Amino acid sequence: MKLIIASNNRHKIEEIKAMLGVRFETVLGMREAGLELEVDENADTLEGNARKKAYEVFALADSMGIMEEGDAVLADDTGLLVDALDGAPGVRSARYATDGHDDAANRAKLLQELSGVPFEKRGAHFATAMVLRTKGAPDIEATGRVFGVITEKERGENGFGYDPLFLYEPAGKTFAEMNAEEKNGVSHRRNALSLVLAALN
Ligand code: IMP
Repeated sequence: MKLIIASNNRHKIEEIKAMLGVRFETVLGMREAGLELEVDENADTLEGNARKKAYEVFALADSMGIMEEGDAVLADDTGLLVDALDGAPGVRSARYATDGHDDAANRAKLLQELSGVPFEKRGAHFATAMVLRTKGAPDIEATGRVFGVITEKERGENGFGYDPLFLYEPAGKTFAEMNAEEKNGVSHRRNALSLVLAALN
């Protein structure tokens, strides 16, 4: 059975691949699966975007005849929700600073918005909404979260997106200071995947 991840983000595909282990024989990104599709992520919730992506990618793959019984599409949408900003950037996390999905600009904007906000008010969480759409089986939907604090400057070189600003307090490190294994063990995506896998089993 194969799993198509509705993404071309290398980091994300590797993270999910590492976590899914033996559950699927083959795990492919969209490009590897031969799928060319730009999904407009215009829903107003993370869950809505994940569902939209799963449906559109599944429909395309199915129309190309590459989905066999038990094959699945996994779509996710992630946001960083900052308490002091009433949950912003949230569903707009990718395009927070510009329309172009510029991680460095997004981080700079976040630091700017939080300038002067003290440590104890810099709480935030990542949320990942996931939808697994399987040929011949009901959809599975789950949202995973991880809680942390937004640092005052970037720390660490690993990961991507907002990782250098996300302090995971139990480790005393930002996600960008943790290696992939450490981050994958506690991340929002891991928590969402665990829920999806529990539902699958
Ligand atoms: P997407 O849902 O993967 O498109 O991500 C939405 C936004 O959240 C983008 O700005 C990503 O860079 C960011 N993001 C997603 N996952 C992570 C993560 O694990 N760490 C840090 N930022 C992330």
